[in-house]
Amino acid sequence: MHIEPLFEQLWRDYAAVTPSAARIQALLAARGEPVTNDHIALRTFDVAGIDLDTLARPFLDLGYVATGEYAFPVKRLQARSYSHPAGHPRVFISQLVTAEFSDRVQRAARGFAAQVGPNPLTGQRWDPPAHAVYEALRQESEYAAWLAAFGIRANHFTVAVHALKTFDGLEALNDWLLHEGFGLNDRGGLIKGGPGVCLAQSSTWADRVQWAFADKIAEVPSCYYEFAQRFPGPDGALYDGFVTDSADRIFESTDHRAPS
Ligand code: NI
Repeated sequence: MHIEPLFEQLWRDYAAVTPSAARIQALLAARGEPVTNDHIALRTFDVAGIDLDTLARPFLDLGYVATGEYAFPVKRLQARSYSHPAGHPRVFISQLVTAEFSDRVQRAARGFAAQVGPNPLTGQRWDPPAHAVYEALRQESEYAAWLAAFGIRANHFTVAVHALKTFDGLEALNDWLLHEGFGLNDRGGLIKGGPGVCLAQSSTWADRVQWAFADKIAEVPSCYYEFAQRFPGPDGALYDGFVTDSADRIFESTDHRAPS
């Protein structure tokens, strides 16, 4: 599969559970702002057949190169970022370190992996578990529960704020989004990072969708839209990597939380 159709398929699967993303794109288009996608993020379990390296392979085959490694010790996640020399959207892939969780999580992860074929990125997705399993996983890891329910799909797409012409940076975009009625993740502040680390990020809270679990339909958080403003690094080129502390809070955009 070529790069454009791959991203188109990933966008369709993502937008199907993230109505806010298409609405924001349409609102930006109405202002004359076509959206450039800064990056996508994928989540997975570190078990054979679906681990980070397996998900990275199709991107490496398409010419992507690894640009950084990241560790999230509290959430017990590892991640790697990839960029393409021709400027295609960056890819950020994380995986849950299942050995640091209970047998229940490890068994569930292996069961999901057994349901997918050789192309977990674009092939058949595993079936969501029973709702009680989702809730049990959530007690250990919001990330594990989200992944169990939604499978391997883009967890978010990202507006490249530095490519926008009618907003004077991320703060102005956030103000506009709030004015348009979108809720933004305020964990650690609306803006994660900033010019000092060459990357400022914000995100919506994940949309809430009616989701079909194995035994019932329940309303749960799906995916969110992210906004990233990159600044020039020491070499004068736009910074190409990611910032661990910022990503750590952005992960929480899919958490269950008290209604605000
Ligand atoms: Ni991101």
